[in-house]
Amino acid sequence: MYDRSTQVDRSADSINFGIGQPDFALLPHALMRRVAAERFAEGDTELLNYGFPQGDGRFRWALADFLSRGYCGPVPPQQLMITAGASQALNLLCTLLTRPGDTVFVEEPSYFLALRIFQEDHRLNAVPVPTDEHGLEPAAVKEALTRHNPTFLYTIPTYQNPTGRTLPHSRRQELLALAEKHDFLIVADEVYHLLDFGTPPPAPFAFAADSGRALSLGSFSKILAPGLRLGWVQTSAQRARQFAASGLVDSGGGLNQFTSNLVRVALEGGGQRDYLDGLRREYRQRVQAMDAALHKHIGDRATWTLPRGGFFFWLTCAESLDTTALLAAAASANVGFLPGPRCSSVNGLSHCLRLCFAHYAIPEIEEGIRRLGQVFDSIQ
Ligand SMILES: Cc1ncc(COP(=O)(O)O)c(C=O)c1O
Repeated sequence: MYDRSTQVDRSADSINFGIGQPDFALLPHALMRRVAAERFAEGDTELLNYGFPQGDGRFRWALADFLSRGYCGPVPPQQLMITAGASQALNLLCTLLTRPGDTVFVEEPSYFLALRIFQEDHRLNAVPVPTDEHGLEPAAVKEALTRHNPTFLYTIPTYQNPTGRTLPHSRRQELLALAEKHDFLIVADEVYHLLDFGTPPPAPFAFAADSGRALSLGSFSKILAPGLRLGWVQTSAQRARQFAASGLVDSGGGLNQFTSNLVRVALEGGGQRDYLDGLRREYRQRVQAMDAALHKHIGDRATWTLPRGGFFFWLTCAESLDTTALLAAAASANVGFLPGPRCSSVNGLSHCLRLCFAHYAIPEIEEGIRRLGQVFDSIQ
């Protein structure tokens, strides 16, 4: 199978750390089979009908309760609008809030497919804002604001894709103050927020939803299963109603009526909570295994920080190393990764690369990093 995102053949022996998806072997087949049977047994017609525009009411209440526990703070169901995943939500908000040529601020680096939605699908002017080891730099945002007037700033504040870094609370507050002063929206892609490995992250931007300055995107893709195509937007009740009144929703009804009805049973019965706890335990071990393998096989040829959640390691190599060229060499050693320029809105960061630790079990992680070490050896 050819993987278009990394140009690496996913044949039997290939280990492609460029794939930023959950491990197929960990997907919740038994849980989903059980909740589907329970939901069908309830016997009403709602399940297969068009859904309520903002999303099924019972599901939004169950989701609000789940998020209130996960975020350690109240999440009002009125602020939730159900979507078919974070990508679809990004697309919807670009459709409703922007016109081609509008400016949006993006982190440098950022999630490569969000960049495509902005730049290619919606023809927006994506202006990169530098980040450091703590994420987005408020001073850099301030500086960019002297030259641009963005409609929104897109950030992945917690366990960022691709760097794994988390924005501290104080910076979140500074960004919100800037958004207020300069009248732009913060679009916080918080799909990894609940995927911590022990230490809870700072409060999500979701808590600022009521102010109208921040809009938070969430998804079940990383905490349950991506094939469900189920996510949510948390925003002011007024904006949630605006989204729900879009032509898309008016025509098709609530954005994922069937799946949300099944997942509601997983939320109410505790199945989602237990599954997520298991994922955290598994990923914590995979992070440790990848870190140990990187120390053993890559050593001081790159620097990285240990991720405290999410999916990714971000390696910074010598400035002279071109990771796009390195990927070609890696392909012949049957190992893959995402080169830095794919995560840049300006084709920069050629000496960096992203590794996903979520997709493979520990033996493949160890073998894949061993192969990567050999690729580094071969270019010395
Ligand atoms: C930061 C970020 N946002 C959104 C997505 C896609 O989310 P969804 O599957 O809910 O569309 C991903 C998946 O890799 C991601 O890393």
